Amino acid sequence: MIELGVNIDHVATLRQARRGQRPDIIAAAKVCELAGAHQLTVHLRKDRRHIQDRDVFALKDTLLVRMNLEMAADPEIIDIARTIAPHTVCLVPEKREEITTEGGLDVAGQLDKLSEVVDAMHEKNVRVSMFIDPEPRQVEASAKIGADAVELHTGAYANAIGPEADTELNRLWDCAELIAETDMVLHAGHGLTIQNLLPAARLPFLEEVNIGHDIIARALFIGLENAVKEILDVLRYVEYTLDA
Ligand code: PXP
Repeated sequence: MIELGVNIDHVATLRQARRGQRPDIIAAAKVCELAGAHQLTVHLRKDRRHIQDRDVFALKDTLLVRMNLEMAADPEIIDIARTIAPHTVCLVPEKREEITTEGGLDVAGQLDKLSEVVDAMHEKNVRVSMFIDPEPRQVEASAKIGADAVELHTGAYANAIGPEADTELNRLWDCAELIAETDMVLHAGHGLTIQNLLPAARLPFLEEVNIGHDIIARALFIGLENAVKEILDVLRYVEYTLDA
């Protein structure tokens, strides 16, 4: 079955609106775990707009499932990641003024710098995933520097309307097939929702999706446990109908 990483950044967004203790990020993580999430994902941004340093340390201490830390290739954050040693780090580009991660990482344009980050993480037995746009040259560059996984940016697919969505899906599909020829595994994420997940979850060789905003938004209406479970139901449906 494709595994689900639940991104709980926006639980922290709500907490930071009052700079208090609630909603409790660890409580949210535990609900996701009990609902069946395979992994918890958080993005420790340089501007600390949602997740704080204390959150990543507390999550590392309390999670029973895998921890995936999204981060920029920034020296301060790299030090924190090496100290915590989560299961995986997902390297993302980061701009202070963006609302959320906008594009994929330009791995091809920063081979030396990112290769050092991969090595620094591997020294601590941390797997490295590259969050990239569905472009063959970025897949090839990620393989070249020894990444363990590629997370294909599904934002363009998620935002596309009508036939454009098929075009974006085809781009993802072509890259998925290319990734299968490497030693890397395939993840996908960004902008995925209960409505648009199914076609994306049928990407060949897909092993993991990371979903945040839609799960936390749905949680307001149906509860966090149910919001996680309905996504897991879609992933299970994909598993059962694999050859259909
Ligand atoms: N994957 C990566 C690499 C991301 O940066 C994000 C957003 O933090 C997500 C997945 C989750 O995106 P969304 O919140 O749109 O589900």
